Amino acid sequence: MAKIGQIELGEFPLLLAPMEDVSDPPFRAVCKENGADLMYTEFISSEGLIRDAAKSRQKLDIFEYERPIGIQLFGGDIGNMVQSAEIAAAARPDLIDINYGCPVKAVACRGAGAALLQDIPKMVKMTAEIVKSTSLPVTVKTRLGWDESTKNILEVAERLQDIGIQALSIHGRTRVQMYKGEADWTLIGQVKENPRIQIPIFGNGDIDTPQKALEYKNRYGVDGVMIGRAAIGYPWIFREIKEYLRTGQVAPPPTMAERVQATKKHFEFSIRWKGDRLGVFEMRRHYTNYFKGVPDFKPFRMRLVEAPTEADVLAILDEVADTYASVGVAV
Ligand SMILES: Cc1cc2nc3c(=O)[nH]c(=O)nc-3n(C[C@H](O)[C@H](O)[C@H](O)COP(=O)(O)O)c2cc1C
Repeated sequence: MAKIGQIELGEFPLLLAPMEDVSDPPFRAVCKENGADLMYTEFISSEGLIRDAAKSRQKLDIFEYERPIGIQLFGGDIGNMVQSAEIAAAARPDLIDINYGCPVKAVACRGAGAALLQDIPKMVKMTAEIVKSTSLPVTVKTRLGWDESTKNILEVAERLQDIGIQALSIHGRTRVQMYKGEADWTLIGQVKENPRIQIPIFGNGDIDTPQKALEYKNRYGVDGVMIGRAAIGYPWIFREIKEYLRTGQVAPPPTMAERVQATKKHFEFSIRWKGDRLGVFEMRRHYTNYFKGVPDFKPFRMRLVEAPTEADVLAILDEVADTYASVGVAV
C-alpha cells in the first residue's frame, strides 16, 4: 500500500502528472472519472501567488471530489517559496509538491524548476524550510539531474528524504534532454533499490500503454507511475492500466459514445470555469486527441475548432455521436 503521510493511495497508484495549460480542473475531472489516484495542479509560480496574480490564484481552485490532490509550486527564492506554500495551504490541498524539474528557460533560467538541480544545497534548504513551515505533506517532482555528467538523483533522493519530504516523483530525463529521446528509468530503479529510501518513489516518463506500465512496475520496482502526455485526450489510459494490472487483459478502447461524453464533460466544465470565450477557445486543442484514430473524423474536427459558441460545439458533438452510432463504429 503506497502512502503519503496519512493519504492512502492503494496498491499501485497511477498519478496524473502536473502539466501547465493542461492539468486544470476540467481536464482533471475526466482523468479522475477514469481512475487517476493522485492528481496535481499545473505548476504555480510562487512569485505570482504572492503578487496575487489572477492566473496563479485561479490555479489554486480545487474541488472535493478531486482528493487526494497536490498543489505544485515553483520558484527560485526560498522566502517566496515558503510564503507561497502558506498561501497554497489555505486552499486546502492534500499535499504541497515542489517542482525541481521544469526545464523551460523562462523557469530554469530564473533559478527555479530544474535549475535547483545545479545547486543541491539550495534545493535542500528550500525544501527543508517549506517542510518546516507547513503541516501538510510535502512531496517533490524532479529529474535525474541537470545533464549527462550530473545525474545526482541518488544523492538528491536521500537528502530530500532526510529533511522530511514524503514522496518523490522522478522523470527519467535530465534537464538538458528536455523531452527528447527515451526516458531512462535505470536510475529511478536504483533509487528505489536503495535500502535507505523509505518514502514512495513514483516513476515518470513515457508510460503510454498498460503493457509498459506493468513492465516498468516489475522491472524498476516503483511504488506507482505518473502519467502525463499519454493522458492528454486519452483519460482512459488510467482505467486501461488498472484493468491490465488486475486481470492481464487489455480493456477495449473507449466507444464513440464515451469519447463524446468525456469531451462534453471537459468542455462544459471549461465553459463554467473559464467563461464562454476562453472555454470554447482553449478546448480547441483537445479535439484531435479525444478522437484520435477515428476514421473520417477530419471534417468534424474542422467544424469543432471553428465553432464559435458553446451551443455550436455541443450540437456538433451530438452530431458526431449520432453519425458514428448509426455507422456502428466503436473505435
Ligand atoms: C504540456 C506539458 C506541461 C507540463 N507542465 C509541467 C508542470 O507544470 N509541472 C511539472 O512538474 N511538470 C510538467 N510537465 C512534465 C510532466 O509532468 C512529465 O514529467 C513529463 O511530461 C514526462 O511524463 P510523460 O512522458 O508521461 O508525459 C509538463 C509536460 C507537458 C507535456
